[in-house]
Amino acid sequence: MCGIVGCVGPRDAVPFLLRGLERLEYRGYDSAGLAVLTPAGLQIRRTVGRVGRLAENLAQSPLEGSPGISHTRWATHGPVTGANAHPHRDATGRLALVHNGVIENHDELRQRLLAEGHVFSSDTDTEVLAHWIGKSLDSATGWDDYLAAVRRALAEVRGSYAIGVLDARLEGSLLAARAGSPLVIGRGGQESFIASDEQALSGMAREILDLEDFQIARVASGSLEIFDRAGSPRSSPASRSLSLTEVDEGLGGHPHHMHKEIHEQPRCLERALEGRLDEDGATVVFAGLHRTNRQLREIQRLVLTGCGSTLHAAMFGEYVIENLARMPVECDCASEFRYRNAPLDTQTAVIVMSQSGETADAVAALRESRRKGALVLGICNNPRSTLARESDGGIEIRAGSEIGVAATKTFTAEALALAMLGIQWGRLRGLPAAEATQLLKELQSLPELVRRTLDLEEQIARVAQRFAQAPNFLFLGRQASYPVALEGALKLKEITYRFASAHPSAELKHGVIALVNPDTPAIFLAAQDAVYEKNLGNIAEVKARCGPVVAFGSDGDTRLEALCDATVLLPATGGLTAPLLQSIALQLFAYHMAVALGREVDRPRNLAKSVTVE
Ligand code: F6R
Repeated sequence: MCGIVGCVGPRDAVPFLLRGLERLEYRGYDSAGLAVLTPAGLQIRRTVGRVGRLAENLAQSPLEGSPGISHTRWATHGPVTGANAHPHRDATGRLALVHNGVIENHDELRQRLLAEGHVFSSDTDTEVLAHWIGKSLDSATGWDDYLAAVRRALAEVRGSYAIGVLDARLEGSLLAARAGSPLVIGRGGQESFIASDEQALSGMAREILDLEDFQIARVASGSLEIFDRAGSPRSSPASRSLSLTEVDEGLGGHPHHMHKEIHEQPRCLERALEGRLDEDGATVVFAGLHRTNRQLREIQRLVLTGCGSTLHAAMFGEYVIENLARMPVECDCASEFRYRNAPLDTQTAVIVMSQSGETADAVAALRESRRKGALVLGICNNPRSTLARESDGGIEIRAGSEIGVAATKTFTAEALALAMLGIQWGRLRGLPAAEATQLLKELQSLPELVRRTLDLEEQIARVAQRFAQAPNFLFLGRQASYPVALEGALKLKEITYRFASAHPSAELKHGVIALVNPDTPAIFLAAQDAVYEKNLGNIAEVKARCGPVVAFGSDGDTRLEALCDATVLLPATGGLTAPLLQSIALQLFAYHMAVALGREVDRPRNLAKSVTVE
């Protein structure tokens, strides 16, 4: 987690650093800080909270200089305090360092440094790293010595890091290094940059170069030198132009980014479908898979993996693809999968999913699958991400940038990608053309169905407000609506801080029913599908124990209305798209409850948009 930005050039680095940091807040927003080389020497400014607080602080009491490094933090070691905010200095105070990652042997290094008399002012692994590198520089004279000392110091460091180092001894340049955490180098007109991702440099850098693991770079305004772990110079990697149009970060009249993103879903889903539905062939075409139909047919088993909301989308995919393609599909969270010795053979494809494409566990799952020789396909929202770059092929979900921390449009776009994949692989494995044609029609109607679901917002808001004071919630669904229940519960937990627990409806009787009471609303997903009657039975069991029930059903379902305390009837549709509509209704439900409770919807406590540590 955490985001870092560095800038070196003839102009004041501070405005560049603040601009970049604001774009990296999705990686954490516990505290922010920067260090710049000023005529009075190395100066550091750090504040607790969002980057805006740091900007206010600097407006009141400006700092000016270059080069500079900066950081936005998601706390791993030590609480959210000014002392734990980055940058951190070494023991001499001459070096300042920002870090993204986790130093796994920080305790051991700290003990060694303490024994030598080092004094620490924070609980962070980063301050240990600053002291550790700084100590090795004691006798460094000149760049060659400096580089050798940094290499020696990093050779003893275990864990993941992307670092930016500011030090007057670097003579107007910055030092950057990475192992396991992302870092790019950017070049603009007069300035050069380092950053955790290229989006941070949008509008500032014209070309981007990727630093590789275990490389060290010396970045100056007009030059770039890269060295490998043996200290040998490496040629600059191929650069790509920063084609990103400025990210649209406006609210467009919406009260929150999450609200805007929920309402963007009809258009996002339209974009995701564009050019992919082949009506003549009654199938779906994904050019990005880079596989012929013959090659795809050879795959006999799928493993879907991801984290959080993306894992829930993967679980939806498991139901859909198994049903349509009649092939075994397993779903596992990436953090488990990467350490589980899962058997993978040449007939298994691993589909690694991550909207950001930078989630540490997802990237590690991808690399582990590659090591085992499996075909690895990626599903993500960022075609320039590590996941997109390192997979054998994949699907871009085309959701556009998502700024609200809680995933909304990326969840539905991921689920839609898997629904399309189910049809494509279904057609390779015996799904009749007539059935597939019906499913394509259902998908084509999805954007309009989503618009009609969004029209129910006021009603959903009223239900959310009515139950906002309940401390606990149960979310229940069957089949492909079960992952939607999990996702609905996650949304509620993330942005309302209410407790919610999700289960397959029938699991109630196996223990969860003990939680049913008049203060615990049960949220049922009960479309009129093959398991509708079963769900009604489960609802009756909750009602019999005086539990309030809120049901999300299908248009015209008067039976459900008669049975439940509150009912939201969604457009009636087929089994492929009904769970997506339910999911959107639950996004609105969580959103309006969070607003009613006065929560910080777009930046909920303790979270970060992209989880780049394991
Ligand atoms: C929840 C949420 C997270 C992410 C998870 C994976 O609203 O956003 O649970 O889904 O951190 O992120 P990606 O998809 O970027 O790998």
